[in-house]
Amino acid sequence: MEQAIGVIDSGVGGLTVAYELMRQLPKEKLIYLGDTARCPYGPRSEEEVKKFTWELVDFLLEKNIKMLVVACNTATAFTLQELQEKLDIPVIGVIQPGARAAIKFTRNNNIGVIGTEGTIRSEAYTKALESIHSSIKVNALACPLFVPMVEQGILTGKKAQEVVESSLSPLMEGEMDTLILGCTHYPLLKQTIQNVMGEQVTVISSSEETARETSTILDVHKIIKTGDVIPVHEFYTTGELEIFIEIAKSIFKDPYLQMVTIKKAQ
Ligand code: SIN
Repeated sequence: MEQAIGVIDSGVGGLTVAYELMRQLPKEKLIYLGDTARCPYGPRSEEEVKKFTWELVDFLLEKNIKMLVVACNTATAFTLQELQEKLDIPVIGVIQPGARAAIKFTRNNNIGVIGTEGTIRSEAYTKALESIHSSIKVNALACPLFVPMVEQGILTGKKAQEVVESSLSPLMEGEMDTLILGCTHYPLLKQTIQNVMGEQVTVISSSEETARETSTILDVHKIIKTGDVIPVHEFYTTGELEIFIEIAKSIFKDPYLQMVTIKKAQ
């Protein structure tokens, strides 16, 4: 039986990671589960995030996945280590890849990180950045209004601009030259965030780097797919199908859109 890469997220944000996986690994089948019904994870306790994350993982393990990508920063911050210790398949999160990409781009070692309250509280990015480069200056900020806005499909326009501008105002005085989007929902607001921060700041989303690392891991474990069968990806949401499909359509351009089925998780 064809084994897929499993991808979990608290909602639609991980679709940005799924898109990169499809682009960089076109032969690999994906099975994605977004917990839209219980999104956001950001304001929840560590215990609750862990419980929800394991429920998502169990759903995908039933589908016999060969590797797991935790495409949610909050879930990565609280659960990655435990998942890596307990599962007998490779597991990757989005924080280390995002941190590595930011270190590659910064010229003045001054990096900003925005994320949910949970991710920022965990200091997972600060620790990841400092473990790669000890003299990095990190300025971290929680942006709790972004995820609910994205889940409602508000990505551009006046409302999005106002919310992004007021949320990011504490970062405007700093000298950062690189800003990590430390939540998989935020790439959907990337253009608005870039407009507010200005061209001098490189805005990093971890999706591309996460897909690259996934490819390396599949290769190292000798589980990368060969052969010519074009995969049909399975996408599941625990919440409303309609809005999930709308957002998926805005991310997956053709031909990827043709290769996706989207259903409610049972
Ligand atoms: C959330 O569920 O609050 C956002 C997902 C993330 O942290 O990437």
